[in-house]
Amino acid sequence: FENVVSMEDLSAQDVMSFIHEAIEFKQGKQIELSRPVYAANLFFEGSTRTHTSFEMAERKLGLQVLNFDPANSSLKKGESMGDTVKTFQAIGADVLAIRDKHNEYYKDLIEDPNIHLGIANAGDGSGQHPSQSLLDMMTIYEEFGHFEGLKVAIVGDLAHSRVARSDMEVLTKLGAHVYFGGPKEWYTEDFQKYGEWLPIDDLVDDMNVMMFLRVQHERIAADENGSFSAERYHKVYGLTAERESRMLPDSIIMHPAPVNRDVEIADELVECDKSRIFRQMENGVFVRMAIMTSMLRYRGLVKESY
Ligand code: CP
Repeated sequence: FENVVSMEDLSAQDVMSFIHEAIEFKQGKQIELSRPVYAANLFFEGSTRTHTSFEMAERKLGLQVLNFDPANSSLKKGESMGDTVKTFQAIGADVLAIRDKHNEYYKDLIEDPNIHLGIANAGDGSGQHPSQSLLDMMTIYEEFGHFEGLKVAIVGDLAHSRVARSDMEVLTKLGAHVYFGGPKEWYTEDFQKYGEWLPIDDLVDDMNVMMFLRVQHERIAADENGSFSAERYHKVYGLTAERESRMLPDSIIMHPAPVNRDVEIADELVECDKSRIFRQMENGVFVRMAIMTSMLRYRGLVKESY
């Protein structure tokens, strides 16, 4: 792919190709580059997992990683994101991973005829998070070996979630059935065509996958945050020990993290037997290796796989 910015651009077959290549990387596959290749990770919004995981993926592929610290960059002098990207291109970067709080920030970049380097969207506002979505799909595929007919509930802060938007679309394309839970006011029109909303007590004993979403206080209005009760949220919408005890024997718990422990999921369940939360993070490295490799292949920078 020239760029990887949205799950909407990927067919079911494309998603499966990414998953299969990520599994090969997990099993130790390496690639050979045709020349030294340079990557940079431009995170204009906070991140622990995605940033570190892209950097690990780049290093495992043998790329040279250029540093970028937005707080000490010329953004402080008013330089735009577009000019920052063009600067990295002029200096010699081949591929970038970018995160920004603005939805679809990437459109101007990929449509700019003067930008030729590869852009992997590492999350745009409440829009898309394709690398997270692919690692979620890889984790589900590793567990069940297929998607057809699986029941997946996405529960929590739907309204502000780029993970929910990315995952509901791709799960549907792959043949899974999507359900939603959490505060019903966050189950807005864009979710309704992908699946029905049910109270969590009707979801837990019927789903193959219970995927919880973080309450994104940074995107919630101050007055709404002021009236938010973590204790009440957990009781009404969260995964309690009692609800976990009613889950199907082979079902799994997922969360993109960071987790608000004792809000979305009870503290002691974050690392329970059913939880795949840290497996998701592990798989993120291999999925991001596959994403970067696809952009390098597009540019003729991969000599061979072995
Ligand atoms: N899941 C995820 O995107 O985490 P970070 O915000 O830490 O990158």
